[in-house]
Amino acid sequence: MSIPTRTAHDGLELPLIGLGTYGLNGEDGVTSMLSAVESGYRLLDTAVNYGNEETVGDVIRRSSVARDELIVATKVPGRHHGFDETMASFEESRRRLGVEHIDVYLIHWPNPSVNRYIDTWHAMIELAADGLVGSIGVCNFTQEMIERLGDATSVLPSVNQVELHPYFSQAELRAFHEAHGILTQAWSPLGRKSDLLENPLVADIASAHGVSVTQVVLRWHVQQGIIAIPKSANPERQRQNLDVFGFELSDDDMSALATLERGRIWGADPNTHEEM
Ligand code: A2P
Repeated sequence: MSIPTRTAHDGLELPLIGLGTYGLNGEDGVTSMLSAVESGYRLLDTAVNYGNEETVGDVIRRSSVARDELIVATKVPGRHHGFDETMASFEESRRRLGVEHIDVYLIHWPNPSVNRYIDTWHAMIELAADGLVGSIGVCNFTQEMIERLGDATSVLPSVNQVELHPYFSQAELRAFHEAHGILTQAWSPLGRKSDLLENPLVADIASAHGVSVTQVVLRWHVQQGIIAIPKSANPERQRQNLDVFGFELSDDDMSALATLERGRIWGADPNTHEEM
C-alpha cells in the first residue's frame, strides 16, 4: 500500500505515517523495523541519541525495498552543535548508517542556552548544497527560533518535529508551519506517558467508527496534515497504525477531540529543556 504524502517548500515529500525507532535496537530492532518496511513504512526516524543508527543501517541493507525508496531521517545531538562539530557528527552518522547520503537531517534540540544552532544550521545548509543530505530540518524549535534561522541564512527548515498529540495540539505553531511550507511532524503522537489511549472520549469515537483508539489518534494527526511517527515493535500494531486512511473523523469528532487540550505531557519546553 502506498501512504499519502505531504510536500515541503524544498520539495521534500514525506508519507503521513513513518516509523519512530526509539528503543528499537540490535537484532530485535532489525526484525521489528524489517516487518514495518514490509508492511509499507518508508520513513525511518532515528537519531544519534537513540543509539540505533547501526540498526537502521542493517535494515536498509537487509530490506527488499530499494535504498532510494526508503527515507532515512537522523538528528544531530545537542553536544555536536557548531559548524565543524556538525560536519563531524554527520560523517559519524553516515558511517554508522552505512549510507552515501542521508535523506532528512534534523537538529534534535535547539538548546538555546548553548546558542550555537545557527552555526549548526550553516553546516547543514552546506551538507545539503553538497548533495550529502536530501533535506534539512529541525525538531523542537519554536516559531521564534525558526524565524532566527531564516533571518540568519534565508533557509527555512523543511520539517519541524515536535511533541504533538490531542492533549497538546500545537495549533499556533502548525499555522506558522503551513504558512511557510514547513511540514509538521509529531513525536510521541500517541501521547505516551499520559492516559490518552484510555480516554473515554477517544474510546467512544473509536467504537463509533469500529476502529481502535490508536487509529483514532493517528487519524486525528493525518487528517490535519500532520506527519506522525508512531513507534511499535509489534508487526500487528505496526500494520494497524498504517491503516488509518479508510475512515474519516467527522467535524463533531474533531471538535470533541479539541476539548482534550491540556498542554505538554513531557514537560519539554524547548525554551528551557535542553538535551545533549
Ligand atoms: P509496542 O512497541 O509494544 O507496540 P510513542 O510513539 O508515543 O513513543 O509510543 C510508542 C508506544 O506505543 C510503544 O510503547 C508502543 O508499544 C505503543 N504502541 C504503538 N502502537 C500501538 C498500538 N496500535 N496499540 C497500542 N500500543 C501501541
